[in-house]
Amino acid sequence: MTRSSRLGKHLCDGKRCAAALDVYRYLTNRSETDYHPRAPGRSQRQRPTGYGRSPSGCTGARHSQGQDMTHTKILIVFYSRAGSTEALALAVAAGASAAGAEVRIRRAREIVAPEIMQAVPGWTEQAERMNANYESPSLNDAEWADAIIFGTPTRFGSVASEVKAYIDGLGGLWAKGRLDGKAGSVFGATSSTHGGNESTLLSLYNPLAHLGMVIVPLGYGDPVMFAAGTPYGATHASMGDSILPDEAHLAVARYQGRRVTEVARALRCSPLSAVESVSTN
Ligand SMILES: Cc1cc2nc3c(=O)[nH]c(=O)nc-3n(C[C@H](O)[C@H](O)[C@H](O)COP(=O)(O)O)c2cc1C
Repeated sequence: MTRSSRLGKHLCDGKRCAAALDVYRYLTNRSETDYHPRAPGRSQRQRPTGYGRSPSGCTGARHSQGQDMTHTKILIVFYSRAGSTEALALAVAAGASAAGAEVRIRRAREIVAPEIMQAVPGWTEQAERMNANYESPSLNDAEWADAIIFGTPTRFGSVASEVKAYIDGLGGLWAKGRLDGKAGSVFGATSSTHGGNESTLLSLYNPLAHLGMVIVPLGYGDPVMFAAGTPYGATHASMGDSILPDEAHLAVARYQGRRVTEVARALRCSPLSAVESVSTN
């Protein structure tokens, strides 16, 4: 047995976790000594006490038996004013759920004054409707999740302030490394076809990188990608908020939910997500 395969057996002893190690090596191109906590030759990384993620359900007896006793946890945080991003969020949730995930859908709250909202027809009413259906995202939600998928309408070619405000509130978790190694992915809506969908999605990649999240793009790994969407995440052009996402774009969103769930499930069993919980007995 090679050292590599011994390590895989040691860490997971299951096909899923062995596959997770392969994914991890593929994603990071690291040798096992880079991430094995007590492997000979591993450099001692100096981290503050309490840094790193909590055990995430892939450890101990459960881990060693290669069993996945809990669902992969997917948090969807979106903002929407007219409903397009909401529709994408629900489709992402459906895809994640169909792939076996436990899903929380949260709507970021408005950060502007009520009088600004009231000046825009329908804004207050839509906000009240959605806020009655979706809780506000919390820090606990972010810690709970194996993956976070952010959805935003375009605002001048970039992320909406409401979503960014939630992300900016994650600084405390960032400082403790609590989001490091989780999967992250993004989707969004513009008004016009070339109104900045891709620049918006890419602008959301920036904070995900700082949080240490493993960014999950869509690529062209499923036939639905050749009909709609972008490789950066599910999208929709609402044409001045006159149309909601059609079936082709919803299919991309469902694929995103499934794909992120599969990556998160693999990462959950990898050293990325549980450095402190890996036994070396
Ligand atoms: C302040 C502001 C800036 C916007 N900037 C853009 C933009 O740069 N490009 C674009 O296509 N749409 C832009 N829009 C339109 C929204 O992104 C678009 O209507 C989107 O579909 C709304 O999604 P929702 O239905 O989830 O609210 C902007 C809207 C607002 C209020």
